Amino acid sequence: MGVRRDVFYANWLCNKRNVLNREKIYFETNEDLDKIFKDIDFSDKDVLSVLASSDQLFKLNSLDTKSIETFDKNKLTYYYYYFRVWTIKYMKKLYPTALIIGDDYWIDTLLSLVNPETEEEKQALYFWDSLFKKDVAFSRIFIWNKVALLDYNGDFSGCSIPSKLSFYNFDLFKNNKFDKRYDIAVISNILEWTHGDSRYIERLENNLSNLLNNGGLVLCSKIIYRNEVNGICLKNILRENFELQDDDNNRCVYIKK
Ligand SMILES: C[S@@+](CC[C@H](N)C(=O)[O-])C[C@H]1O[C@@H](n2cnc3c(N)ncnc32)[C@H](O)[C@@H]1O
Repeated sequence: MGVRRDVFYANWLCNKRNVLNREKIYFETNEDLDKIFKDIDFSDKDVLSVLASSDQLFKLNSLDTKSIETFDKNKLTYYYYYFRVWTIKYMKKLYPTALIIGDDYWIDTLLSLVNPETEEEKQALYFWDSLFKKDVAFSRIFIWNKVALLDYNGDFSGCSIPSKLSFYNFDLFKNNKFDKRYDIAVISNILEWTHGDSRYIERLENNLSNLLNNGGLVLCSKIIYRNEVNGICLKNILRENFELQDDDNNRCVYIKK
């Protein structure tokens, strides 16, 4: 996984420098996941979800989803997943708010409690340990909207951790080859990130088409616009292989023809 290189780039990000393909991590979701996942039976579905803050993954797992795999173009989300798991497991908190408010004692305590059970977990511990030792301002590595601060003393009931993480580091706007197909792809508000660029939209559509079984769903959240994404009518996105099935204020659902 090139963990040393990832520490190096994460350290750069913490020092306010921009790094190509290494972006800041969403500390928490800014979506209403209950509404986005409403009325869908996940119990017999193979799902591919964006990883981001891991909130989508934890919520899908609590909905008894048959199988969940994750993807993100930002590899740092992979390390953050482990930090969230440890926060729940060892500190009984939903969010590691200490990272945002700079509570070094809390972070130190947590990292000393972690007892890695897998090679992946060991690498994640190395990542956070190394970054922490570099004495960086952690909050700078995150994009956050202060919801988690309110939840600092909240409990973590209703949140469920999968026994194992399956993660793919790819960009949906680039040409990719996939070995597997899924019933549902949860792509958050990635449609908005196309900024209407037809090349991105075309590759996104090809990728989703190759990733999904016939009749499969693309679940999208809409944060900013209701019927449009950056000025583009939702009906004009993913129009070759998909039909826009549902469209409300929180989400849109495309179904593969
Ligand atoms: C769309 S962002 C926004 C946050 C989101 N609304 C939430 O609640 O988590 C979520 C994640 O999508 C990832 N992402 C954005 N564009 C992507 C792309 N083209 N391919 C793969 N991942 C992408 C980002 O790296 C980020 O971690």
